Amino acid sequence: MDFCTAIEILAVAVAVIQILRLIFTDCDLQLQWAEKFGQSTGVLARKVVWITGASSGIGEYLAYELAKAGCRLILTARREEELQRVKKQCLSFGSLLDEDILVLPLDLLQFDRHRPAVEEVIARYKQIDVLVNNAGRSQRAAWEKTDLQVDREMLEINVLSVLSLTKQVLPRMLDRGQGHIVNMSSVAGKVGAPLSGSYTGAKHAIQGWFNALRMEMYSRNISVTNLCPGPVFSNLLKGSFTEKTGEVLDVEMKEGEKRMSTERCARLCAVAIANRLDEVWISQHPILLGVYLSQYMPTIGTWLLKRVGVKVVSRFREGK
Ligand SMILES: NC(=O)c1ccc[n+]([C@@H]2O[C@H](COP(=O)([O-])OP(=O)(O)OC[C@H]3O[C@@H](n4cnc5c(N)ncnc54)[C@H](OP(=O)(O)O)[C@@H]3O)[C@@H](O)[C@H]2O)c1
Repeated sequence: MDFCTAIEILAVAVAVIQILRLIFTDCDLQLQWAEKFGQSTGVLARKVVWITGASSGIGEYLAYELAKAGCRLILTARREEELQRVKKQCLSFGSLLDEDILVLPLDLLQFDRHRPAVEEVIARYKQIDVLVNNAGRSQRAAWEKTDLQVDREMLEINVLSVLSLTKQVLPRMLDRGQGHIVNMSSVAGKVGAPLSGSYTGAKHAIQGWFNALRMEMYSRNISVTNLCPGPVFSNLLKGSFTEKTGEVLDVEMKEGEKRMSTERCARLCAVAIANRLDEVWISQHPILLGVYLSQYMPTIGTWLLKRVGVKVVSRFREGK
């Protein structure tokens, strides 16, 4: 066998292995690799991690993952009693003491409270190692029927509140010469998700803003991770925007819907944080495949999504 033939066989073997890995995964291949062979979440032990939106869903289960890893936690959301419930559960794993978890109720739309909140955290722990900007709201709406006010409110909670809190935390990280900003984006931050126009716009904005920050921070030892999950079980639809100003969707996710479990999503998010990955995609197929197609074969991806996107999303939402 000559050298060229050997290289060709090797290339085909690598391609087959990658395709097999892709068929049987529920996340992108870099994250899959990190989960098996990368840093364990144990490297985060004693880090001070601030999670927004920790009273429910992905933020709540991420708190459990990080509590098991031994992180000191700041839990933020509006509902204090829910945060206390999450704290109690975190303490039950036995790795943390009461003083290792700060419950910090905060409505992130009250921008003037961001600075005092950061000061309270610094007074308690002296440092913030990781900020997880997770809190957010979703949407179900037709683009052409959506009030401009809904777009505005979506940007306030899913983008501007994230920028504001990060702008308060980042100088503290720069003072110490280290830190990690983690944002809960979505596959809707990578691909135009039909029937969620304002949400898609907001998550794309997060990607853009923080991709720029990652470049500026590289030489200053601050990492930026964008987490992009597909559908995950949580309470997201209860508080979702619709097309109309002031209206809330108030829908429960039903068992049997094609969604990832909250535990699994949180586990993969924790692995991404431990390994300081730049961007991760967390989803089952066919959505994961759609993201791969859009990223690596955008012409084919857009051609296909234009034709099937609305149908697929509508059927998914009808639970079919
Ligand atoms: N579930 C999915 O399918 C999915 C997929 C991709 C991305 N995501 C993203 O994941 C993140 C978490 O959502 P989830 O699915 O876990 O939904 P969830 O269960 O509804 O959690 C949302 C969290 O955000 C908090 N929150 C909402 N408005 C807030 C405000 N004004 N101030 C402070 N906290 C606020 C909520 O707490 P309070 O109500 O107590 O304030 C809650 O803890 C969101 O950014 C979402 O876009 C979710």
